[in-house]
Amino acid sequence: MKESLHNLRNEALALIQEARDIKEINSLKISFLGRKGKLNEYTKKFSELKKEEKIELGQLINELKKAIEGALRRKERSLKSDQPKKTDWFDFTLPGKRPEQGHLHLVSQAIAEISDIFEKIGFVRVRYPQVEWDWYAFEALNMPKNHPARDEWETLFIKAPPHKKYGQMVLTPQTSSGQIREMERLKKPPIKMINIAKCHRRQQDITHTIMFHQFEGLLIDKNISIANLKGVLDYFAKSFYGPERKTRLRPFHFNFTEPSFEVDINCPFCLGKGCRTCKSGWHELGGAGMVHPNVLKASGFDSKKYNGFAFGFGVERTFMMRSGIKIDDLRLFYSNDLRFLWQF
Ligand code: DAH
Repeated sequence: MKESLHNLRNEALALIQEARDIKEINSLKISFLGRKGKLNEYTKKFSELKKEEKIELGQLINELKKAIEGALRRKERSLKSDQPKKTDWFDFTLPGKRPEQGHLHLVSQAIAEISDIFEKIGFVRVRYPQVEWDWYAFEALNMPKNHPARDEWETLFIKAPPHKKYGQMVLTPQTSSGQIREMERLKKPPIKMINIAKCHRRQQDITHTIMFHQFEGLLIDKNISIANLKGVLDYFAKSFYGPERKTRLRPFHFNFTEPSFEVDINCPFCLGKGCRTCKSGWHELGGAGMVHPNVLKASGFDSKKYNGFAFGFGVERTFMMRSGIKIDDLRLFYSNDLRFLWQF
């Protein structure tokens, strides 16, 4: 008997707790405490019991009744206070709280713009792994093992056993590895690739961040000349910086291009004459050149039949060269400081 009263208590309290309105409360009141209710069923059994048992059961029933009444009262009160009062009103003319609106990071904005510019003249945007084999990052780019030129790329190596053909794993130090991957993927010309990706180098100071972005162009076909390269670079300079801007090629050395150049852009203030901000009239943008026959061969292309050009620029640097934007410390790009990010 005691146990079944205990169960009845649990059942009643649970149902009261779950009640959703006053109507449900009233019907629970009737089903537990009413004349024909569950509690009265027990009172009916009194006649079968001995005197002491009657006293004990009587006490238990009384306690349970109080508990159920209390729970019903509390629930009724809370349901009533949840309902809107008649006097409540809502002033919909008050200004609301506007949630803050974010925007794309300035590097993402620059990447979208750069992709658009090159896509307009038929370059296809691609992306290749950030964790790359030594073969793609260096060897196939005409930089054999232990070549001193590799030092300039301050490479971060992955601790993993080297591959028989592809060598060690590295974090891509330059997007040029995309040249080999794209030639392997398409197997034959024409190739017009724009590879924009993250690069990593072991350098961190006001002009370097350990992670940065580059965009790499590659065009392979028949009879491609430096004039084609210059045309594409000038088209980019005018589209990204404005119609009065142009590029200049300066002889340089890269292992993966022959001849190789550094690409400069004319100063936004003096347009190349030379002034206080630029001194020489030009600012360095990145590297470029005619793809080296060894690079074509390493990618399975006939270097006698086909040729082409390539160029690689830093996205952050290219963005900073826009007139009026002077960022003293490159690390600000990635420090998540909203005071900086909100300006773009
Ligand atoms: N990968 C070079 C760097 O990170 C830039 C570069 C130079 C890319 C010449 C090219 C190129 O495609 O032809 O410094």
